Amino acid sequence: MTTAPATSTWVSGPILGIETSCDETAASVLATDGAVLSNVITSQHDVHQRFGGIVPELASRAHIESIEAVSAEAMRQAGLAWTELTGIAVTQGPGLAGALLVGVSYAKALGYALNIPVVGVSHLEGHIASAWLKDPAFPLPSVVLVVSGGHTHLYYKQPDRHCRLLGATRDDAAGEAFDKGAQLLQLGYPGGPAIDRLARQGNPEAIAFPRSHLKKGSLDFSFSGLKTSLLYRLQVMSELSQVERLADLAASYQEAIVTILVEKAFAAVRSTGVHALAVVGGVSANSRLRTLLEQRAASESIYLSLPPLAYCTDNAAMIAAAGRHSLQAGFSGTLEIDAQASLSCS
Ligand code: KG4
Ligand code: ZN
Repeated sequence: MTTAPATSTWVSGPILGIETSCDETAASVLATDGAVLSNVITSQHDVHQRFGGIVPELASRAHIESIEAVSAEAMRQAGLAWTELTGIAVTQGPGLAGALLVGVSYAKALGYALNIPVVGVSHLEGHIASAWLKDPAFPLPSVVLVVSGGHTHLYYKQPDRHCRLLGATRDDAAGEAFDKGAQLLQLGYPGGPAIDRLARQGNPEAIAFPRSHLKKGSLDFSFSGLKTSLLYRLQVMSELSQVERLADLAASYQEAIVTILVEKAFAAVRSTGVHALAVVGGVSANSRLRTLLEQRAASESIYLSLPPLAYCTDNAAMIAAAGRHSLQAGFSGTLEIDAQASLSCS
């Protein structure tokens, strides 16, 4: 059994973040003041592409192969020696158990060797922390919409940084809706960026896909009907007209997802009375979503935080940032953390 280093009085300094929850191996170093010194990401898209989705066993192996080189590169780009680190933050969950275990084991070994605290971070807390990476002045309380491959969650983030869940998807996550839609349109994996690119040449009003509002006032989401509607639409179209109208299909399908996201995010802002909204996670990289959010925020005078693209999809800078908040809040870190595949946001 390992014991935690004596770290209850954390001396603020550089932090290494490590992220291996899914199909990206990532490491990042934050400076003492929280500035991002490096943000290294290797994607496994090539490994999983021919399977049309992520194969967990292959993901774990790919993380094992690259974790050391990615971390060393993050340190090299930051211009720091290992001994200058004062803490390590690692994604503890949610995610693929075997993939998480690679990052957690590596972080614990490194923390033990350097005798510095290791903090386990929720992947969701990481995405939420990304809203403050480029904009440390982003205010609290605020509404945060996390839209990724596994989550579509609306939170009220309190001044003490705790999250209260306001609404979530009842079936598919927004990223899943993009990925499944792209699969039906045979655009490959990951589907979000492919639909985003193609939709720029299409008409978002061309095809009327259903928009599920659920019951009045609900801040929950549902995307499974939309995906079914795309499937039915394709079944009644000839192959030729599918090809001819591919960009319109992509643009209209995307529009149905992003308009609901915008609508519910601003409904949450109204119902909580806050003046600040952050939209984070892989889907927040979507160009149409970003445009609609910016227009609406400007017209309603809402302070909007949209992370730069490098911090939208999975990265370790957001994990380091969330870990830094924990250490600053007095959390001492421990080498007894374990991977938790179904960890949720506190
Ligand atoms: O946050 P993320 O990298 O990983 C998870 O935590 O799941 O999000 C991945 C999701 C995928 O479903 C991907 O298709 C989607 O984000 N995504 C996008 C875009 N870029 C990534 N969806 C729409 N438009 C994009 N540009
Ligand atoms: Zn993520």
